[in-house]
Amino acid sequence: MKNKRNLILTLATAGIVVVVLFVLWAGNDFQALRSTEPPVQIRYDMQYQSKVGAQQPNSFFADRKSMRDHVPGTVPREGGIYPYTTFQEAEAELSNPFAGISDVLGRGKNRYNNFCAPCHSVTGQDTTEVVRKGLQKPPNLAAANAKGYTDAHLFHVISAGQNIMPGYADKLKPEDRWAIVNYVRELQKAPLKYAEVAKPAAQDSAATKDGGAAQNGAAAPAAASNANPKPGN
Ligand code: HEC
Repeated sequence: MKNKRNLILTLATAGIVVVVLFVLWAGNDFQALRSTEPPVQIRYDMQYQSKVGAQQPNSFFADRKSMRDHVPGTVPREGGIYPYTTFQEAEAELSNPFAGISDVLGRGKNRYNNFCAPCHSVTGQDTTEVVRKGLQKPPNLAAANAKGYTDAHLFHVISAGQNIMPGYADKLKPEDRWAIVNYVRELQKAPLKYAEVAKPAAQDSAATKDGGAAQNGAAAPAAASNANPKPGN
């Protein structure tokens, strides 16, 4: 008897709650059914704030770049200044701290796929979307030229850049750059998919000459490595 009365009371209360909610909802013109906005904006100023995204143009700065270059003469808090301007200097001073260590390959692969593959492809040999969109095709990383580079030379190219390839000393820690060197060595074990367009001697000297010049400008204060606007930026 008592149980039955309780049940009726509960059902009636629930019914009233449903009716009240429905009336409120209807009174708001069924807003939630039509709106594409989140109904309650608790942190409005955080959801809608003025900010710029990577690569977005910016009318505030004269060069219209949102991603600001390092101020010459300053040192980034993370990632130091890369001191060598030629690969010969790098070869004289540096040796691969991870030589023969395969534990770093996972890290190397991760960094390579993030930082290098957009231009060089995940294999180091294939054509990528940025090349199809107009970037100069980078050399095949498994070709004889890059295969013949010492570890320190590879590290130097990654750190200081080479011609239109930017340097990564300010974006990747030295350990990560060495890990990438080891991973590039792995990629170079794959069969060569195509031979480089043959003019190795000319390309070599041009690369060294231009590389030296570009690196002098770019690497001396490594922080300023992005300071020279490059074609295509
Ligand atoms: C923005 C595109 C781009 C990115 C990103 C890039 N590269 Fe390059 N890379 C190039 C281009 C273009 C060249 C050819 C430069 C030249 O003309 O000397 C090149 C050259 C090289 C060379 C020299 C090859 C040779 O035969 O002389 C190596 C080694 C290399 N890149 C490795 C890397 C690694 C490792 C990374 C990632 C840390 C990387 N690159 C990121 C575009 C890129």
